[in-house]
Amino acid sequence: IGVVTYTQDDPFINAMTDQLKENLKKMETDHMKIITTVKNGDDNQQDQNEIVEEMIDAGCDVLCVNLVDRTAPSRIIRMAKQEDIPVLFFNREPVREDLMQWEKLYYIGCNAEQSGIMQGEIVADYIKNHPEVDKNQDGKIQYILLEGEAGHQDAISRTDYSVKTLLEQGINLEKLSYQFADWNRGQAENRMSRLIEQYGDEIELVISNNDEMALGAVEAYKNAGYMQSDYPVIFGIDGLDDALEAVRLGTMQGTVYNDRETQARKIALIAVALFRGNDVSVLGLEDERYYMAQYRKVDVNNVDEFLQK
Ligand code: BGC
Ligand code: CA
Repeated sequence: IGVVTYTQDDPFINAMTDQLKENLKKMETDHMKIITTVKNGDDNQQDQNEIVEEMIDAGCDVLCVNLVDRTAPSRIIRMAKQEDIPVLFFNREPVREDLMQWEKLYYIGCNAEQSGIMQGEIVADYIKNHPEVDKNQDGKIQYILLEGEAGHQDAISRTDYSVKTLLEQGINLEKLSYQFADWNRGQAENRMSRLIEQYGDEIELVISNNDEMALGAVEAYKNAGYMQSDYPVIFGIDGLDDALEAVRLGTMQGTVYNDRETQARKIALIAVALFRGNDVSVLGLEDERYYMAQYRKVDVNNVDEFLQK
């Protein structure tokens, strides 16, 4: 089984890939050895295509691909189809038209809209229960939004739906700034440090498309010399260990669990079923091609359940 990720330094993807390897290992039997090779595309679609080609030449039976550019899967699809090797795309969703090009293409991920709605709901609940979030008591919440990667399905929908949900819940918002930080902690920290210089105590809320960037915001406040009680409220998505710990400690107020266990387990189950020529329709796929895991809300009240995993 050949697994190719988009980069080597995305903590969420690495955590999910580790789980995938473990799952595949557990599925070995006396009669079936599973050899998993994990490589990354180094943020370059061209490079990723070449790695896929090498994996095909090396004789892999199933491909699991986390695309660099989700709009450019054509070359991979063509190569795989030629050798009749099924492809399980994950996390970076090809458009439907591409996935329908051949019957042995699958997508395992989540419904991005759901994560945006849930994030909006957690933030709204928190604000309703904590009027002190509105530091200057002007009846509006001044906020910053940290965005993932331009063009990524999750960044687009999370941004849209978290804000839309907050407005629907009757929260009065005032946008200070939206910043792309590529899902990355370091980049978010830089962006946030500049915003702190610019807006200072005006910032009351930070909504982040993922946890790594939310943690970058926490770092920025720490480095700017703020006491924890003076941080704005900060919300992420993913439920990575560092973020769960931050929610427990109160440097972040909430996150949305992006269920990497279930996604990894499904990828392993589908991959092995395809290898054995078994029926995959029993695995709960939508439109015979899609598996979408459910997100879950996390805040200080239930964070311990997730930390114990
Ligand atoms: C995750 C991000 C991750 C991205 C990579 C998203 O679903 O929430 O943390 O960086 O996928 O594609
Ligand atoms: Ca305010």
